[in-house]
Amino acid sequence: MAGLNVHEAPVAGNEAVAPGVGVLVVRGAFAATPGQFYMVRAWGPYPLLARPFSVFDLDEESISFVYAVRGEGTRLLQTLSPGEGVNLFGPLGVGWQRAPGRIALVGGGMGLAPLYYAAKAFGSPADTYLGFSGRPFLVEKFAALGHKLFLASETGEGEGVERGLVTEIFDPRGYSACYACGPRAMLGALYKSCHAQGVPLWVSLEERMACGIGACLGCTVLTPHGPKRVCHDGPVFQAEEAFS
Ligand code: FES
Repeated sequence: MAGLNVHEAPVAGNEAVAPGVGVLVVRGAFAATPGQFYMVRAWGPYPLLARPFSVFDLDEESISFVYAVRGEGTRLLQTLSPGEGVNLFGPLGVGWQRAPGRIALVGGGMGLAPLYYAAKAFGSPADTYLGFSGRPFLVEKFAALGHKLFLASETGEGEGVERGLVTEIFDPRGYSACYACGPRAMLGALYKSCHAQGVPLWVSLEERMACGIGACLGCTVLTPHGPKRVCHDGPVFQAEEAFS
């Protein structure tokens, strides 16, 4: 089943992990490098478009995606039961390559989605920093990897969670590279701190997508180096490319 293709596969699990947030597990042998995504579709003619989801987890038997219910497509994803079919198209986009040495993974909110598979695939030494607006979710999965895990939330809810922003608890000094996904403001702040310390930063940008293969230009973002298609030129970019 590996390779860039449309796969029709059965749902193996679909679990709520926070209000309006779920993890969809699809059975099958899929492929991806950390940071790549799939276009996912599991409904009739409406809504028309598949939705892009970063690979959250992957093993020999299944692939997982984290979704937030934000519209009709994700509302329909939430209703899927084990055994029902979904269409996956991918893997798509440019992912992350591991740098040697101790690395940091930094995620904000739903930006944690591509970081779990990256943390798992890249192995130690790696530290993970996650920031949330409210109560943290999916932290047990990250903690089970055995890497150091640092948590922040704007409300300070949860055990061992610092009140504040993830960018306030992350110091890039001592890391050989940083990998991040989250809101633009978070990535911009990270870029400043990493740049000041000479630490390379690779960011995964989130954008609405229609085709996922570089054809419709619907995901184009303007960068200081010209327009870039997030689905085809990214979603992973060197931060210099996106912000300087
Ligand atoms: Fe069509 Fe990126 S989604 S070009």
